[in-house]
Amino acid sequence: MNDDSKVKVTFVFPDESEQECEADIGDTLLHVIRNNDIPIPCSCGGALSCSTCHVILDKSTFDLLESKGDIATDDEEDLLDFASGRRDTSRLGCQVKISPDMQKVKVIIPK
Ligand code: FES
Repeated sequence: MNDDSKVKVTFVFPDESEQECEADIGDTLLHVIRNNDIPIPCSCGGALSCSTCHVILDKSTFDLLESKGDIATDDEEDLLDFASGRRDTSRLGCQVKISPDMQKVKVIIPK
């Protein structure tokens, strides 16, 4: 991909099929989900009052965010407690911002 304003994001569905998308830097994963008709509800529209945007990040992306201090806030953690299929690298999609240093982001959609 030659466009420096975009990052490649691959969604992995529960049946292990994949959909590759382009994400604009500065957008959140919620925008990417909506822009590409990914079937994740994101019911509250990013108001941090549901957990329907729960996604599981690949470890490299999760670690990159963590290294920059981009970790789940207490409010996000509280909501993640209600998310089914939560894993160590779970985040709420509406709270994850696309940054230029992200490479080959994989986003697993929980069952
Ligand atoms: Fe509701 Fe993310 S869309 S918390």
